[in-house]
Formats: sequence, C-alpha cells, structure tokens
Amino acid sequence: MDKILVHGGNALAGSIKISGSKNSALPILAATLLTREPCTIHRVPDLSDTHYMLQILMHLGAQVERASGTVTVTAEKADSVAPYDVVRKMRASVCVLGPLLGRCKEATVALPGGCVIGDRPIDLHLKGFEALGAAVRVEGGDVKVFAPKLNGAVINLRGKFGPTVLGTDNVMMAAVLAEGTTVIEGAAAEPEVCDLADFLNKMGAKIEGAGTRRLIIEGVKELHGAEHDIIPDRIEAGTFLVAGAIAGKAVTINRAEPKHLTAITNALTGCGFKVEEKTNSLTVSPNGVAKPLELATEPYPGFPTDMQAQMCALLSTTDGISVVTENVFPQRYMHVAELKRMGANMQLEGPTAVIQGVHRLTGAQVMASDLRASAALVLAGLKAEGITEVSRVYHIDRGYEHLDEKLSELGAHIERVKD
Ligand code: UD1
Repeated sequence: MDKILVHGGNALAGSIKISGSKNSALPILAATLLTREPCTIHRVPDLSDTHYMLQILMHLGAQVERASGTVTVTAEKADSVAPYDVVRKMRASVCVLGPLLGRCKEATVALPGGCVIGDRPIDLHLKGFEALGAAVRVEGGDVKVFAPKLNGAVINLRGKFGPTVLGTDNVMMAAVLAEGTTVIEGAAAEPEVCDLADFLNKMGAKIEGAGTRRLIIEGVKELHGAEHDIIPDRIEAGTFLVAGAIAGKAVTINRAEPKHLTAITNALTGCGFKVEEKTNSLTVSPNGVAKPLELATEPYPGFPTDMQAQMCALLSTTDGISVVTENVFPQRYMHVAELKRMGANMQLEGPTAVIQGVHRLTGAQVMASDLRASAALVLAGLKAEGITEVSRVYHIDRGYEHLDEKLSELGAHIERVKD
C-alpha cells in the first residue's frame, strides 16, 4: 500500500490543469448501458473509481475501449446482475441500477455498505423506482428491482438531508425509457446532474429542468449512441484553490468552470484571500491576514460537503475562531482527530466543528479515512512543520487524478512511497 510523504513549508506557485469530474463520469459511464450503440466519453479522469465503473460495465457485457482520457463503451447486450464482488469496491456502483432497470426492466445489484461518512441509505432511489412502477426487494445483500413496464410518475425525491445526487441520477436514468412523463420534484441541482442530463439528451432523451429542483422527463422508446465531454471536476478545483490558500503565493487552476465554484471562491474571499477569475481559470493568492469564517455545507449551489474537510484544514491555521456545520453528512468529521494530531485545535459539537486557528501545525503520521478527508490531511501537511505521512493513499487515488504530481508541479515537496 502506498503512502504519501509531505515535507511541509514549501510555498506553492504556478498553475495546473483540472481533470474531468469523477462524480459526472461515474453516472455518465453507467448511462452508456441505456443503448446498444457505442458512446464515446472524453475527459474521463484516470482514477480507481472510474476503473471500477468500467470493470462493472464489462462484467455486465459491455465492450470498453480506453485511450488516455477517452472511453468508448458499446453495450450491445446488458446483463442485469451486478454481484457483490464486482460492486463492493465503490458505493457509486449503485448508479447502474437506474439504467439497467430502464433497459432490461429488471436489475439485481449488491447493496452498497455504509462508509465512514455515514450509513449512506438508498431509500430515496428505491422510492423513485417504485413510483415508476417497479417492485423492489432486498434479499441476500442484493437489491432487486423489476417492472414489466415503467410508467411516468410524479416523484418527490427530497429526503431528510435534502436532495439526493445519485438518487436523482438513478431515477432520471430509469425514467428516460418509461412510458409517459415523469416529474422529479426535490431533484438535486448539482452540475454533475446537469452533465448527466446533457449526455442523456444527446442520446435522444427528453429531459428539461436540469439544474433546478424540478426535472421533467418525457419517456422515449429508445436511446442511441452519443459523444460527450465530461465537465471539469469542481471538487478537485476547490481542493487546489484551498491548497493555494493554505500554502501558496499565487496558484492558478486552468480548465476549470468558475461558475460551478462560486460557493468555494466566496468562502475563500470571505477568509481574506484574493481570487481572480478568467473564462476557464481561477487564481488564488494571499491578500493580507487570513480571517476566520462561519461556514455550512448545503446542496448545490451551497458550499459542498465534499470540500468541508479541506476547508477545515485551512481554517485550522487561520487566526480566530471558525465554525463549520456539516448539513449533508452530519457525521463526516473523521479528519478532525487526525488534524488534531498535527496540532489543530478543533472541537466537535454534533454536526458543528468549532476551530480555533493555530499558528503552527506539525507533521505527523496520519491515516486517510475517506477521499476528501485524505486530501485535507495532505493540504494540512503542506503547511505543517516537518514531514506528514499520510497512509491509506488508495482513498486519494479513488478521486484525485495524480494529486501528488500536480502538487509537485506547483512546488510542493511531496513523494509517494511503498509501505
Ligand atoms: C454524491 C457524491 C458525493 C457527495 C454527495 C453530496 C457521487 C458519486 N458522489 O453522493 O461525493 O458527497 O453526493 O453532495 O456523485 N440520502 C438518503 N437517502 C437516499 C440517498 C441519500 O437519506 O436514498 C441522504 C444521504 O445520507 C445524505 C444526503 O441524502 O445525508 C445526500 O446524499 P446524496 O446526495 O444521495 O449523496 P450521493 O449521491 O451518494
């Protein structure tokens, strides 16, 4: 197993390119199951999660060709069963349920387990499938959905913690081949949901309202092949902006989409950093003394939960008291204990972290617990005195394309070693 060693103290400067979005690529790859014709997807990030998704598609009978960032999937046939050993590595594999139900009118997919950020239920996905006329059974660790016919329906997908991103994706992918019109109320409005809707529309689907809380999907008889470019990864972009804020002179991210990053850039300017915007790039640089912040995670367009850990790392070295509230996954604080081992002063009160900024973090051996928490530990290591040793790097490789190499390009002293 690899470890990342961060030798803290180097100032970052320069520019890097943002990769395609992981959270767009996964459902879009799953959506290729909806047609027998070839689909070509560009800018698919080279991540273990996208590899797992391609393995699942191949297991289901699809042919996959991959040449650097371009993937062509041809699912002339699609089996409807994805067993545990194929899907267990990645929770997002649940998003093959919707396309399989749409195409085969049945699907059996092993249920994802919980993870460190919460128990991750899929009740809202299943509620949506039932509303379309599917019967749902959970047995032997699998979820089975089947329907002789899918019928359009009005479905409210809003749950206790707000809209569900993959739930919206899943129900949308089943509904595109239902008979009649489906209306999804309380839909997720994340840019990744819009990207999926754009791709489905290129395949011949009729979806309106993507990016709002109300999706209207007019079912069609069949979909055809299509070609698509994945949008830039706003969470990778945000992570590099925070890296620039925590340890930078001036860091520029290119091939980004600034309009998807407003909540993050607002948080950084609220913290006292300067953020300059061009068409597809953003530059963050220091602008006097950084200030503490009050921040709450919310569904898009609010501040993303996937940036909460990285922001905690930044605020842990910002003078004054910051208050961060996690509204999407209230238990998503595994990074706090690790940041405290590096000298951060943070207390948890339910879903809220109260952070008293410190002047000095020190390198330590820390354990990555999930994707974004791991990134936060690397960012804290950039600022810390001495060496921070981050183990369980496979979490980072799930969702960041060459994080260590890109940070090196910016001047960080960072190395990957075998355990
Ligand atoms: C997606 C993202 C993940 C991000 C999350 C929230 C992917 C591959 N992953 O995950 O990076 O952190 O959105 O922006 O795109 N919930 C229910 N019932 C359900 C489904 C969800 O109660 O059936 C709850 C969840 O526990 C959570 C909230 O709804 O509290 C939002 O979760 P959701 O949007 O579904 O997250 P994912 O789509 O799994």
